[in-house]
Amino acid sequence: MIDPWSSAIVNYEKLIEEFGIKPFQELLGDLEDPHTLMRRGIIFGHRDYGKIVKAIREKSKFAVVTGMMPSGKMHIGHKMIVDQLIWYQKNGAEIYIPIADMESYSARGIEFPEAKRIAIEEYITNYLALGLDPDKNLHIYLQSENKIVTDLAYKLAKRVNMNEMKAIYGFNGSTNIGHIYAPLIQVADILHPQLEECGGPKPTVVPVGPDQDPHIRLTRDIADRFHSKFHFITPSSTYHRFITGLTGGKMSSSQPKTAIFLSDPPEVAMKKLKSAKTGGRESLEEQKERGGVPEDCVVYEMLLYHLVPSDTRLKEIYHQCQEGSVMCGECKAMAGEMIKDFFEDLQRKREKASKKAETILGEHKHILC
Ligand code: TRP
Ligand code: SF4
Repeated sequence: MIDPWSSAIVNYEKLIEEFGIKPFQELLGDLEDPHTLMRRGIIFGHRDYGKIVKAIREKSKFAVVTGMMPSGKMHIGHKMIVDQLIWYQKNGAEIYIPIADMESYSARGIEFPEAKRIAIEEYITNYLALGLDPDKNLHIYLQSENKIVTDLAYKLAKRVNMNEMKAIYGFNGSTNIGHIYAPLIQVADILHPQLEECGGPKPTVVPVGPDQDPHIRLTRDIADRFHSKFHFITPSSTYHRFITGLTGGKMSSSQPKTAIFLSDPPEVAMKKLKSAKTGGRESLEEQKERGGVPEDCVVYEMLLYHLVPSDTRLKEIYHQCQEGSVMCGECKAMAGEMIKDFFEDLQRKREKASKKAETILGEHKHILC
């Protein structure tokens, strides 16, 4: 069982073997211009993504839904979702970004005004600063303020029972009812773009981390159960690997030592990266002789996920590390400069974006679809 609210580290191979997630690799060749994260295998799995490939190729309507739980600060791992949304925006998708204030209330105990504040100051500000276009096919809303979503959730709940929720999420008799209901809201987040009043059935993709897969399975089942009523097209999904934390475990906002936050000053981001765990050897001699291990290196991962857009340049760094021609000190200095530049630019963009972020929920308040 995968628990979307715990911090367990996921075994990606197992997901493919046991849960029926398909390797993304098999579809890569069908996309004209796949996202860097797809090419590099960071987006490693999917369900039913063929429908989305088709929509992109035929330039037909499709939707992307990916929510955020406003529970803490945004770290650099969270940037991956925004990068994908920007790519989808360029590829003609309708973008839906639910802010899961109902989920954070019942699963994390965060009050609604606080969730809204975090959503604006942290998430929306960063989404805009990272390059998401607020004026292009974007629907952003608080779950608690979207009546189409909450009504749909209630209708869908009629055909889901407690045994099923226990089996999927491990809920028991003492789980609070809000928490049990929260996944139904998420199901409605994902399916509501297909309602007649929102433009009717259309392929929909949900790009998420693998911890969210239980919600995806539930959504796909429910979509099929209501097929004759709403004519839903079963939604698709993609799964990305999580970035490793600075100390080698999970990167988590609740453990500041593991994370580079998007609001960190550039110098701090650089310092943090330079102190991260590497795949270097015990001594310089050993590293010169045997080379480093980029696969076990947080610094390399940061280059791979975020800092080096050119595949050729990235390969070069990889080989230099492996053959021992570049040592960690030099490599970290280079990566440190890159992250500092990136954060300087982001800091400027965040300052600009914060005003727009203040108003966007108000502007979108009446666009419920
Ligand atoms: N549960 C998600 C999280 O913890 C947030 C979320 C809410 C979501 N609605 C969604 C994700 C719809 C994908 C699609 O971050
Ligand atoms: Fe990591 Fe660079 Fe050291 Fe290789 S040389 S282990 S990529 S820091």
